[in-house]
Amino acid sequence: MVFLGYYKTLFLVFDLSSFLCIMYTPIDEKRLFEQAKSLLIPKSGNEEEIIIQLREVINYADWKYYVNSSPVLSDAEYDNLFKQLKHFEEKFPELVTIDSPTQRVANGLSERFPTVAHLVPMLSLENTYNAEDLTDWDRKCHELGGEGLIEYCVEPKYDGASISIIYDNGNLSRGATRGDGVMGEDVTANIRQIKSIPLSARLMEDGISQVEIRGEIVIHKNVFEAYNKQRIAEGQSPLANPRNAASGTLRILDPTEVRKRGLSAILYHISDYTLAPGATRPPQLSTHYGSLQWLYSLGYPTPAKEMKVFTHIDEVIKYCSEFEARRDDLPFEVDGLVIKVNDFAMQDRMGMTTHHPRWAVAYKFKARQATSKLRRVEFQVGRVGTITPVAKIDPVHIGGVTVTSISLFNEDVVREKDVRIGDTVLVERAGDVIPYIVKPLTELRDGTEEEIKFPTNCPACNSELEKQPEEAAWRCINIACPVQVAERLIHFASKDAMDIRSLGDSNIRKFFDLGLIKDIPSIYTINWDNVRGMEGFGEKSIANLKQAIELSKKQTLNRVIFGLGIRHCGENTSKILASAVSNIKELYDWNVEKLSTLQDVGPKVATSVSDFFARSENRAIIDRLEEVGVNLINDHKDQQKAGGALEGKTFLFTGTLSQFKRSDAEKMVEEKGGTLLSGVSSKLNYLVVGEDAGSKLEKAKKLGTVNILSEQEFLVLING
Ligand code: IVH
Repeated sequence: MVFLGYYKTLFLVFDLSSFLCIMYTPIDEKRLFEQAKSLLIPKSGNEEEIIIQLREVINYADWKYYVNSSPVLSDAEYDNLFKQLKHFEEKFPELVTIDSPTQRVANGLSERFPTVAHLVPMLSLENTYNAEDLTDWDRKCHELGGEGLIEYCVEPKYDGASISIIYDNGNLSRGATRGDGVMGEDVTANIRQIKSIPLSARLMEDGISQVEIRGEIVIHKNVFEAYNKQRIAEGQSPLANPRNAASGTLRILDPTEVRKRGLSAILYHISDYTLAPGATRPPQLSTHYGSLQWLYSLGYPTPAKEMKVFTHIDEVIKYCSEFEARRDDLPFEVDGLVIKVNDFAMQDRMGMTTHHPRWAVAYKFKARQATSKLRRVEFQVGRVGTITPVAKIDPVHIGGVTVTSISLFNEDVVREKDVRIGDTVLVERAGDVIPYIVKPLTELRDGTEEEIKFPTNCPACNSELEKQPEEAAWRCINIACPVQVAERLIHFASKDAMDIRSLGDSNIRKFFDLGLIKDIPSIYTINWDNVRGMEGFGEKSIANLKQAIELSKKQTLNRVIFGLGIRHCGENTSKILASAVSNIKELYDWNVEKLSTLQDVGPKVATSVSDFFARSENRAIIDRLEEVGVNLINDHKDQQKAGGALEGKTFLFTGTLSQFKRSDAEKMVEEKGGTLLSGVSSKLNYLVVGEDAGSKLEKAKKLGTVNILSEQEFLVLING
């Protein structure tokens, strides 16, 4: 057994090979692709041969999809192959192998996770925080590694849950959590649910009979956000960060549930390997860079594309600060960079302490957690009456911004976290994710902390609050509640609705407080004589305002519908509703059943829309809008102009698009008569996937009825 990174001197005799050009055994994509296509037409003959081929092409398709982010098969094609494999395996159970793609499917729940010993202890990394720390580390490396140039390999430090996985004779045999570094929990069944981790790889062809690989289980930021949204909707508290979500998911006892959560993996270190009898070490295994490129070429998800090699610490330092500036651009949470001595022989000479290797160091980005005191809780009223508790904390600086207010979402979250007024709280702000209270530091309590009391009446209009049994939030249902009215007015005038330029938040609030605007239609009947005397309103600004308001009367019907602020009715739904009618008033007669026949309209949206149009006060508002001349008609000009090449087809974009801007692509779809949907459902025809697509792609694959297009394929489709 070879302990790579510790006893590799044993292999110094082979080190000449590292000077040779690194030769990978590339995956023969052309052959696999053609083989996949040919297998789509079911074959008869040597079943064993067919099973082997099916397995190979499905593994290849999984790799293209989950690791390489460029799917090669449509959903239907993938399902066809998978079904064939299942069919043959059912017919010939003796031909089922442990690494067959069909064997990812979980069977049964485990009671608990057995404890297992890692082949090599999972050490941690020493941290550095600035240029000085890195220069010190570089000096130590030269003291230990010699005078000459040292190659440093720099890669992201992924913020997830660390794991170690073992392959025996090319098959995934075990996956374990870090545990205490020596012993971990055997979570093999869960690791097998992560599709980017191959169940088998051609390691034996390169003479490796056993390998232990370390890596991180991570969760895409967009998968994480979607998951948190769902938790909030269900009244649960959101998870603080993608790291907690990843490590929590890894310990779920039901692998089927793990599968649904869409975890990803990145592998970044070979900690141990054994050569098959008579085999020689693959040349790539003489450097860290080579080893991760080699793993990548075998189908493993490694940072092969993100790694950089430098020979001078100043270059490393420069790269670290450049990278930190764009840390939020990555699909995964990254809390720093890891700098590793590239040459394995040198790593061995440098050795390790009891805690960490001397040949690697972490450069940690600026902290995004801080503590602060929770002073009070305010209860805010939203546009649709939802009451949100907002924690007011002592100002605290996190990741470049000062945080003073943090949403506590709803009562259930407050109770679950047991946050109290006077508590010292741990606050986290990860990237573009809004700040969270991770937890109160209960050990710092002195007994003076007070429970957060929820109001029974609306803080704005004093009417009694209500809570639906299936909802987590309290709501003020008084439609005339002044805060709700002001928020509705702001929404109506906003950019994505009627886009009344100069009528921003503060002007609306001013006009509303002075009684110049009372409700939506009154925007069009402002008495300008009363505005004239007001501070900050000269003739010119009044003329601008008047013009902007006048122009808004010509806005398209979808914007009017969106501007009305119907619950659960976003921009897309508004477009769908507008295109279904010629006049808004036709919607008065649409019941839930009829509304549900529209694309992207589920029962929740349909109920809300039908309730809205059934209320006489809302109909009165629409009448008044008509009287003042606001357009309430859809002349279907847009669709006619399109010529309908994509008419009746529905689209959704997901992931990071590199060939065009999402907004441009959406415009293209609409111009051709297509419709945009906001989520994956049976009504969706096309899902266009960019890089690092997350849960939407998973869901679409599962549904099996959605056509999944790459950006290129989308362009081909749109260009006819
Ligand atoms: S190398 C023996 N590389 O960071 C060295 N670790 O704070 C093995 N981590 O325990 C670790 N990204 O869980 C390495 N690119 C990366 C990493 C990485 C994240 C984690 C790992 C480790 C922790 C140390």
